[in-house]
Amino acid sequence: MVAVDPKQRMGRKMKGIILAGGSGSRLHPLTIGMSKQMIPVFDKPMIYYPLSVLMLSGISEVLIISTPVDLPNFERLLGDGAALGCSFRYAEQPEPKGVAQAFTIGESFIGSDKVALILGDNLFYGSGFGSWIRRNTDPDGAVIFAAWVSAPERYGVVELDCQGKAISIEEKPVKPKSNYAIPGLYFYDNQVVEIARNIKPSARGEREISAINNEYLDRGSLTVKVFNRGIAWLDTGTFASLSEASTFVRVIEERQGLKIGCIEEVAYYMNYIDQPTLLELAERYSNSGYGDYLRNVAHWPRITDN
Ligand code: DAU
Repeated sequence: MVAVDPKQRMGRKMKGIILAGGSGSRLHPLTIGMSKQMIPVFDKPMIYYPLSVLMLSGISEVLIISTPVDLPNFERLLGDGAALGCSFRYAEQPEPKGVAQAFTIGESFIGSDKVALILGDNLFYGSGFGSWIRRNTDPDGAVIFAAWVSAPERYGVVELDCQGKAISIEEKPVKPKSNYAIPGLYFYDNQVVEIARNIKPSARGEREISAINNEYLDRGSLTVKVFNRGIAWLDTGTFASLSEASTFVRVIEERQGLKIGCIEEVAYYMNYIDQPTLLELAERYSNSGYGDYLRNVAHWPRITDN
């Protein structure tokens, strides 16, 4: 196992938010009795995947936002984060009034720090992804990403010039100007709080994340980084894409014998926890293969990666 040198982890403080609310109506009846972000993606609840991405970025202070009904279940699942060497806090979004609300709900949590937002239903996987995203944790302005997709009209879409600079950003355009969708992972400086406060609801009544990104674009401080083909960005918005995401995780995990989105492994890899703590965590799952996996991870040789 490769471990991150704690000195390289993060020179400055950035906080993280996971937005895990919404009505999940596109997945009814699955999401009537259960939050979408709690649905299993193969062997883990969906939220493990975005949480592991924030942790891999070097972020250990995380605010989880969800509905008043679902929030207690996330607290039961993840606790205060101390077991993973992290700090998790929780906040309610009474109604799903838009992704950009994450920053007004999270205003006191963010304080004067920079902040990353990840949507609770976005999955990412790729070689070197962790070290690649760790380079974005001190943005001046905003850093967002672009991923080539076949159906961009379902997403925020960014049009790029030949230098890779953003020309326009549109939320779910009927006629997309490019095939570059904007994945649900965003890194912002502290201006985002003031920008979010002043966003007006869109025609569909939501405070759109694309409105925030457009404001950074107007201010000349938006950076767009294009995912290469080696980075998989998976969607879980439909029954079919949810099932495909589970199959994707299963195929990789069974072939390699390595897990995707295993938060305990990431905590160990990032040096948030030590080996005895990982072994203690493994005991919690003594009845499932998950505990055996953590025990194996604890005994693999560690190579420091920076
Ligand atoms: O997945 C990436 C896309 O996510 C971006 O390309 C779009 O620009 C962005 O608007 C968003 O589009 P979606 O159509 O996927 O947004 P959706 O309404 O499905 O919400 C995304 C997640 O955020 C979902 O897990 C529910 C949660 N959510 C959403 C809203 C609007 C909340 O927790 N609260 C909300 O108010």
